[in-house]
Amino acid sequence: MGLVVAALAVLPACGVAQTPAGPPPLWLGVSWYPEQWPEAQWEQDLTLMQKSGVRFVRMAEFAWSTMEPAEGQYRFEWLDHAIAAAARHNIYVVLGTPTAAPPAWLTEKYPQTLRVDEDGSVAQHGNRQQFNFTSPKYRELSAKISAEMGKRYGHNATVIGWQIDNELTRESYDAGTRKSFQDWLQGRYGTLDNLNARWTTSYWSQTYSSWSQIPIESSKGNPGLLLNWRRFDSDTWRDYAKNEIDALRKYTDPKQFVTTNVLGWGQMSYDHGEVAQLMDFISYDDYFPQGEVDLAKNGSDDDMQRGFKGKNFWVIETQPAFVNWGGINQTLEKGEVRALAWHNIGHGADAVAYWQWRSARNGQEEYHGTLVGANGKPVPVYDEVAQLGREFEKAGPALAGTQPTSEVAVLHTYDSFWAINLQRHSKDFDPIEELVSYYKPLKALAQSVDVVAPTNDLSKYKLVVAPGLNVLSDAAAKNLMAYVRNGGHLVLGQRSAMKDDDNALQPQDQPGPLAELLGAHVTQFYALIKPVGVDGEFGQEKSKIWAEQLVTDVPDVDVWARYSKSNGWLDGQPAIVSRKVGKGTITYVGVWMSDAGMKKLTEKLVAMSGVSAAFGPVPEGVEVNPRRSADKTVFVLVNMSDGEKTVDAPRLMQDVLQGGDVKHVTLPKYGVAVLEEAAGTSRSRASH
Ligand code: GAL
Repeated sequence: MGLVVAALAVLPACGVAQTPAGPPPLWLGVSWYPEQWPEAQWEQDLTLMQKSGVRFVRMAEFAWSTMEPAEGQYRFEWLDHAIAAAARHNIYVVLGTPTAAPPAWLTEKYPQTLRVDEDGSVAQHGNRQQFNFTSPKYRELSAKISAEMGKRYGHNATVIGWQIDNELTRESYDAGTRKSFQDWLQGRYGTLDNLNARWTTSYWSQTYSSWSQIPIESSKGNPGLLLNWRRFDSDTWRDYAKNEIDALRKYTDPKQFVTTNVLGWGQMSYDHGEVAQLMDFISYDDYFPQGEVDLAKNGSDDDMQRGFKGKNFWVIETQPAFVNWGGINQTLEKGEVRALAWHNIGHGADAVAYWQWRSARNGQEEYHGTLVGANGKPVPVYDEVAQLGREFEKAGPALAGTQPTSEVAVLHTYDSFWAINLQRHSKDFDPIEELVSYYKPLKALAQSVDVVAPTNDLSKYKLVVAPGLNVLSDAAAKNLMAYVRNGGHLVLGQRSAMKDDDNALQPQDQPGPLAELLGAHVTQFYALIKPVGVDGEFGQEKSKIWAEQLVTDVPDVDVWARYSKSNGWLDGQPAIVSRKVGKGTITYVGVWMSDAGMKKLTEKLVAMSGVSAAFGPVPEGVEVNPRRSADKTVFVLVNMSDGEKTVDAPRLMQDVLQGGDVKHVTLPKYGVAVLEEAAGTSRSRASH
């Protein structure tokens, strides 16, 4: 870019330069695509945005063909104008690098950049994400457009940050990617002998005598290969994102943040935590395709996002009432959009942004929910979002600098998720559902839960629950053992520690390296069509989907529950065992009980480990979310039950949204309260 163009970047588009008034602590935002509309219509859009309390727009993430209509010919004037117009309406801008939607000239001129699907078909222009994530040419072109954007907007005070690409998702199965995978494996394993041994390739004559023989595939191959293909996928996306970040960062003000938007539980093909490490914070896209909300599942997703970096995150996309890609695109109910935004804030989101602002007149998403229609006029959900805008402004100062903190951690790794999913053994064994079966009662009891990796520092948690830690690395095993020996309470769920880092069965008794500490082991697993009875501390329960037969190896192991008469093998055998280790405990749960059973189990675990409710008892269906800073705790309460609920506060608290001090609040269905208490007025929150 020449000097003239560079100079233009700092000149206001129309008259006096203007920047939005100070960044808010809580951000309301929308995805806005000014390139789809004549400039004459922008003013009306921005006026309505400003009225609703929108404080940022995300732009340009699909606008490559508008920014670079032919190779090397840049057209940024429209974007200059759009950014300046947003600023005049007190609206900041997040710019997306446009690489999720390469222009037609690019795919025509450089067909080697096209993605190849697993069935060998080559992606074509006409949709998005047709690029190949390992293509050197695509990396070069991506870096170029990112750099051009960085040069032009890297010091624009209205641009608060950058989004890299959009929902990194689709891997390629072309020859170049295969070669990259083989090189990557060579880096990981060193020698073929090592790889062959660790993958047990003598099985079915898979033994490799040359790296070039190793295939790429996603579902039917050797489990060692399949797990490593996912890891390669994660590393490749990280490098892909780094390519753009490096290009941008040459030119951008360090004050501008860099993030990317991942999908949560909905898209688990690579490790989002890996990519998150490159970002200032992670953003995610939170959707409810059929308009049906599983609050615990969504809450655990939010908490996983927060867990990637141990800091607050952004919901950079969510639906204004409905999407266009579910089976039946049912709308969220009136009031639910607002309630869900507060649920996200409660779990640590500092921004909630709607996709998208205005219906595009054409394109693949014509039917998607928006805040204004193609006619530029508000649709019904606009008012609800405008209410949120007012509330974010009001509650911002109270929530500034706060984040959720928890006494309980639920452990999650992508390795374990993939390993179980690749060999479910029972089609009904969904590792996310398994995690949620623990998360849900724990969240209700403790009212705040972290979802983190087993290699994290666990010393701050009173209770650590690993629902399905199927693949246990040596580092994770050491960390977990140290946690228990230092007085922590560790709970292992079904299928824990069956596999080593290569997705091979542990040679020791399950749970592998942890079996000795447990003083017990799993001797056999059983996939179930009919649930089996479980008797013990939790009454007459049943295990569904899966049952593990436990054996105690030393006398000081407590048996909390045994199987009742079922398939003969399990009759009378231990189903849940626990052992004291100094001040700590290690517990193995071989069953997957009903919601009521899991609740009783978690009640015992919480009591045993001294975990306390962050707020205190609330009526069922009301979610409590604490956010803390050094000098205060703010509780976000959301009523997701079907009727009105009255919540008694444990102490007098300040009602941030309604004003005044309150001892109780009455919440209608989808009602929200934000209650603040100064530090020192609550019980001490110091955990061990
Ligand atoms: C997201 C995507 C957006 C839009 C949205 C529709 O996954 O990032 O660009 O397509 O879905 O729900």
